[in-house]
Amino acid sequence: MKTTYLVTGGAGFIGANLVHRLLGQPEAQVVVLDLLTYAGNLDSLADIAASERYHFVHGDIGDRELVGRTLERFRPAVVLNLAAESHVDRSIDGPRAFVRTNVVGTFELLDACRELWLRLTPAQREQFRFVHVSTDEVFGSPGDSGCFTEETRYAPNSPYAASKAGADHFVRAYFHTYGLPTITTNCSNNYGPYQFPEKLIPLVTLNALEGKRLPVYGDGRNVRDWLHVDDHCQALILVAERGRPGETYNIGARDERTTLQVVEAVCGALDEQAPAASNPAFARQDRAPVSYRELISFVTDRPGHDRRYAIDPSKIERELGFQPARRFAEGIRGTVAWYLQHRAWCDRIAQGVYRRERLGLGPGGAQP
Ligand SMILES: NC(=O)c1ccc[n+]([C@@H]2O[C@H](COP(=O)([O-])OP(=O)(O)OC[C@H]3O[C@@H](n4cnc5c(N)ncnc54)[C@H](O)[C@@H]3O)[C@@H](O)[C@H]2O)c1
Repeated sequence: MKTTYLVTGGAGFIGANLVHRLLGQPEAQVVVLDLLTYAGNLDSLADIAASERYHFVHGDIGDRELVGRTLERFRPAVVLNLAAESHVDRSIDGPRAFVRTNVVGTFELLDACRELWLRLTPAQREQFRFVHVSTDEVFGSPGDSGCFTEETRYAPNSPYAASKAGADHFVRAYFHTYGLPTITTNCSNNYGPYQFPEKLIPLVTLNALEGKRLPVYGDGRNVRDWLHVDDHCQALILVAERGRPGETYNIGARDERTTLQVVEAVCGALDEQAPAASNPAFARQDRAPVSYRELISFVTDRPGHDRRYAIDPSKIERELGFQPARRFAEGIRGTVAWYLQHRAWCDRIAQGVYRRERLGLGPGGAQP
């Protein structure tokens, strides 16, 4: 049966991966609604642009009229909300955009979906799903042991996390108050293709290839659970197909690493795949580094940096049969290979306003 999906933020990192995965299902039709902020990139969707099963709508999830028209035109059975301001450092420098898109935008989208949903037939209403993609950062930091479950109390510590938490509460309220079939997912750190190079893994990969410093915040011992983006997308589709309305699902890989371990893993993959000895970026130096690890440089920590995030994914494993297909050790090699093979994509992204400068030290705190 043909299913129409509306993916907001589909030109971003996770969105682009999700759109590719959805279009891999022959019966899926995908509509992307994206504002194309600095983080949105139509290059990431160029290979599917000609597909008759794909439509792109340029606009803001907070633009009620446009959202209403888009819902009316395509009548999606599933809305997956990934549109967001997503970078913690940027939320420290300028939180307002995070409130505007993540809280107010999500509210407008939800409310427009409620209006559409009320006009559907009973069978369509039953089938309709609003899947809201959130983060484990809403839970704060659990200390050195223990994991976030779906029952963990919300304790957001950054403006980004607070804005995602606000949106999550509206999504919950729309189920309890109006019966709109909403589901929220809270996922750990993603890595993989098409990630904007302000985020750790592409930033480190591209800096290393250019012989630049590899910035590691604080002592590098902050811990995150790392999930391959394609495994996250698999989980989102499972949730859309079989998740229970009104529920939340934590998504993670049980694959915790410190930041320093992640950066060292990227360096190890680069040492194998693009050794510094044959990298022209070092041609003018006395000697090329033996390993890209020599470029690691510890920098001022992020204000309010949560020490550790850890997800307990038992519920989605048990109820929906979710299992990530990759472990980090193997996934990171493939990810580094992807960035090496897609330098043109990286270069086009770098032509925008972002130059891999340090963000997140607060107003006036920018560093080169
Ligand atoms: N990246 C991660 O590790 C991670 C982990 C857990 C959850 N998440 C969540 O997943 C979602 C996607 O994350 P990502 O890393 O792909 O983000 P991203 O920054 O790469 O992409 C966000 C996309 O949303 C679009 N967008 C921004 N504001 C918009 C608006 N007002 N209207 C329409 N589109 C708008 C951007 O143009 C961009 O294409 C976010 O909600 C994020 O909070 C991300």
